[in-house]
Amino acid sequence: LREGDPVYRMKFPDGQNGWMITRYEDAVEVLKDPRFIKDFTKLSGADIYSESVFARNMLFADPPDHKRLRGLVQKAFTPQMVAGLRGRIQEIADELLDSLSGKDSMNLIDDYAFQLPIIVICEMLGVPSEDRDKFRVWSNSLIEGSDGVTSDELITHMGEFIQYLGQWFAQVRGNLGQDLISQLIISEDEGDRLTESELYGIVTLLIVAGHETTVNLIGNSIIALLEHPEQMKQLQENPDLIHTAIEEVLRYNGPVEFSTSRWAGEDLEFKGKLMAKGDLVIVALNSANHDPNQFDDPEIFDITRQKSQHLAFGTGIHLCLGAPLARLEGEIAIMSLLKRYPKIKLKVDKNELEWRPGMIVRGVKEIP
Ligand code: HEM
Repeated sequence: LREGDPVYRMKFPDGQNGWMITRYEDAVEVLKDPRFIKDFTKLSGADIYSESVFARNMLFADPPDHKRLRGLVQKAFTPQMVAGLRGRIQEIADELLDSLSGKDSMNLIDDYAFQLPIIVICEMLGVPSEDRDKFRVWSNSLIEGSDGVTSDELITHMGEFIQYLGQWFAQVRGNLGQDLISQLIISEDEGDRLTESELYGIVTLLIVAGHETTVNLIGNSIIALLEHPEQMKQLQENPDLIHTAIEEVLRYNGPVEFSTSRWAGEDLEFKGKLMAKGDLVIVALNSANHDPNQFDDPEIFDITRQKSQHLAFGTGIHLCLGAPLARLEGEIAIMSLLKRYPKIKLKVDKNELEWRPGMIVRGVKEIP
C-alpha cells in the first residue's frame, strides 16, 4: 500500500467509509492538518459519545477544548516532573525483580512488563494498591471494546468501572490533596474548567494509556533484543545506548499500531484524493515508521540509529502526553531486567509468540 496506493480508500470493519494513510510524509501532514478533526459529534450534531466514559478527553477533542483539557494534566507529565519519578520507578522495577528471584522461568508480560507501568500510573493517580487488579481487567475490556467488540462482559466491566470511579471521586472530594485526581476534581468543582463527563474521560484515558501501551514497549524491546543477540550484547556493554535502543524499538515495533480516528471535517482534497465530510481517516503509524523515504534500511533493527523522528507517539497537538514517562519506564525496565538476568532467553520459538488481537495495540500476550 505504501508504495502503490498510500492514501488508500477502504471500508472499515464497522462499515464506515474511510482512508488509510501509510507514508511517513502524509502521516505527518494528516496528524497536523486541522481539516482532520477528532470530535465526531461536530459532524453528526448528536452526542453519540455521551454514554461512553472514554470519550470526553483531549484525545477526542479539537481546539479550543483540546488545549483546555490537555492543559489540566500537562504539568504532571513534563520531562522535568517525570525525571523526578526516576528513583521510584527504579525501586518498583527492583521490587518486582526481587519478587521473581529464585524462579527459573517467568512470563515477562504478566510478571514484569504489565506490573511496572500499572503501579506507576496508579501511584500517580492515587489508586489504592488493592484495586490495581480490577483496573487491569477494566482497562483491557475498554481497549478491546474500542475495536468494536461488544459483549455482556464489556458492559458489566464498564458498569463496575463507572461505579468505582464515582465512589472514588466522592472519597477524594472529601479529602483533597496535592495529587492529580484532587487537582482535576477541584477543576470540576470550580465548574467552568471541567465538566463531569470530561473528568471521567480524562481519568479513563490516563488509566488506559498507562496500562496498555508501555507494557508492550517493554515486551517488544525484549523480543527485539533477543532476536538480535549481537545488539543485546552491545547494549549490555554500553548501557548508555538504552536511549537510542528504546527509540529504535518504538520505530521498529511500536506499541501503538494505528492512530486513533480522525474525520474529514469538510469535503476536501488530500494528495489528489477527494475525501467526503465525515470520512474516517486512520494513520498507520508503524507503516510510516518503516517508510524507506524517511528511514535508511527501515527493516533493519539498529539500536544505534540516530535522530529517528519516528511517529510512535504521533505528532501535532495530540502528540502523546505520556511519552517522557513511557520512555523512562521503558529504559529502567529493560536495563534493570538485563542487569539481573544477563543471560535471559526465550523459552519458546519466537514464531510461537501470540500477538494480541485488535487494531490499536501491538504486543504479545505472553513472553515465556
Ligand atoms: C496520545 C502512543 C504511553 C497518555 C498518544 C498518541 C499515540 C500514543 C500514538 C496519539 C494518537 C493520535 O494522535 O491519534 C503511546 C505509546 C506509549 C504511550 C506508544 C508507550 C510506549 C502513554 C502513557 C500515557 C499516555 C504512559 C499516560 C499515562 C496519552 C495521552 C494522549 C496520548 C493523554 C492524548 C494526547 C492529546 O490528545 O493531546 N499516545 N502512548 N500515553 N497518550 Fe500516549
